[in-house]
Amino acid sequence: MAAGEGRAVLVTGGSRGIGRAIARAFAERGDRVAVHWGSSRERAERVLAELPGEGHVLVQADLADAGAVAGMVDEAAAALGGLDVLVNNAGVFTAHPPLETSYADWQAAWSQTLAVNLVGAANATFRAVPHLIAAGGGAVVNVSSRGAFRGEPVNPAYGASKAGLNAFAQSMALALAPHGISVTCVAPGFVQTEMAREVLDGPGGDAVRAQSPFGRVAVPEEVASAVLWLASPEARFSNGTVVDVNGASYLRT
Ligand SMILES: NC(=O)c1ccc[n+]([C@@H]2O[C@H](COP(=O)([O-])OP(=O)(O)OC[C@H]3O[C@@H](n4cnc5c(N)ncnc54)[C@H](OP(=O)(O)O)[C@@H]3O)[C@@H](O)[C@H]2O)c1
Repeated sequence: MAAGEGRAVLVTGGSRGIGRAIARAFAERGDRVAVHWGSSRERAERVLAELPGEGHVLVQADLADAGAVAGMVDEAAAALGGLDVLVNNAGVFTAHPPLETSYADWQAAWSQTLAVNLVGAANATFRAVPHLIAAGGGAVVNVSSRGAFRGEPVNPAYGASKAGLNAFAQSMALALAPHGISVTCVAPGFVQTEMAREVLDGPGGDAVRAQSPFGRVAVPEEVASAVLWLASPEARFSNGTVVDVNGASYLRT
């Protein structure tokens, strides 16, 4: 385990939404958190200020910039005194309906979505591995999506990025298990955050809520609790799994 009180945890996209709830969940159980942000500096500062406990830090990087990601992960590990857990949470969800999008916009959506959601997570994981090995093992938890399985007709690059993230996680689960590192995913359905606001507040919002027999979407804390468990030593043998947090809105066997 990394030096200091609790575990050392890096949460990408900790400046708002699900990442904020994940940062809080770890801090509440005594861990030290590096709250990563991309462009929302003030929000990240507010998240940091409201975290219980000591030793939390902010780190910044555009996840589409491989060099910046490398520096950000090393900075987080240096500031926290090591690294026990990486949560790849940051993501983008840009509409690009196939029949209504120009070829230029289509390319832009695919480039940005894959760069952040998939390659950004892959690069952060690559750079975290030496720190996790130095700590004697740990966990990488990726925030994927129901869309990887159910399809994303308006955001096909998003669905593909999350399916890629699941496959990446399972490959890394095999590669890193000998070092005591688990790599897993949580796959939420819609969650009440800014990312989903347009859909949830739009004309199709009620239909989305009705997809679950609970008649609602998830709150960020429900995703955070699954991440917390997947990052725990008790979940280490669940290596490679993808945990659904979708209110039974999409069941798979
Ligand atoms: N909300 C949903 O319905 C839902 C459902 C399934 C899965 N998810 C997944 O859950 C994760 C979190 O989503 P959310 O709902 O919390 O979204 P959100 O409220 O839109 O927050 C997105 C986070 O990602 C960061 N981010 C985005 N692009 C970035 C970039 N280029 N570089 C660095 N950071 C970047 C943002 O940081 P800055 O603002 O600081 O740039 C922000 O912290 C995502 O992976 C998303 O795909 C969400």
